[in-house]
Amino acid sequence: METTRGIFFTFEGPDGAGKTTQIGRLETALAERGYTTLRTREPGGDFVGEQVRQLLLDRSAMTPEAEFLLFAASRAQNVAHVVRPALEAGKIVLCDRFTDSSLAYQGFARGLSVEFIRAANAFATRGLTPHKTFLLDVPVSIGKARRSTGETNRLDREAEAFHARVREGYLRVAAEEPERFVIIDGTQPEASVFAQLWGAVQALLL
Ligand code: TYD
Repeated sequence: METTRGIFFTFEGPDGAGKTTQIGRLETALAERGYTTLRTREPGGDFVGEQVRQLLLDRSAMTPEAEFLLFAASRAQNVAHVVRPALEAGKIVLCDRFTDSSLAYQGFARGLSVEFIRAANAFATRGLTPHKTFLLDVPVSIGKARRSTGETNRLDREAEAFHARVREGYLRVAAEEPERFVIIDGTQPEASVFAQLWGAVQALLL
């Protein structure tokens, strides 16, 4: 990765893994210790990214190809207009989902070419790679139970087999890049998940 002053952390996991809660806790803990953070999400980020998010999470029929290209479009906006400027300003960037979501969901689960997605991710991000990626891993049944309590989107409503492939995809991607990934068991109580996350983040900030 090119030299920037900030630190780039991404958070991944199946729907219902508890990422949003953990990112919130981490944001608070870092702020209490005087770090400047920036939180963003994909799909989303800037105005265009958020508009693309509306399209993506809507329930209208969409081809897998169009779906991936829209995620990639949102990613290009988020990187150029939100993530890079924050890294250049020396911030710790916390990004809720990034390139690995496309590999797991559109690649492994939808069945699009994983190699193509890798290349398109590199194109969309102009090669920006996270310093660390925290993967909150939960079995499909737990993710499903947690999802049912919130609002559902196009991807939440996919069959159980789809979500099983998402989980498997994440674990495969993580196994290929063990130095970048920290896998955390998301079935633990919320406080235990955070203790593990915080321990890993502190080790990186030393
Ligand atoms: P969101 O409501 O943000 O879900 P979560 O809280 O679980 O992150 O919806 C994002 C959905 O988009 C989620 O189901 C994962 C999916 N997604 C992809 O399929 N590919 C991608 O590249 C990204 C960024 C997200």
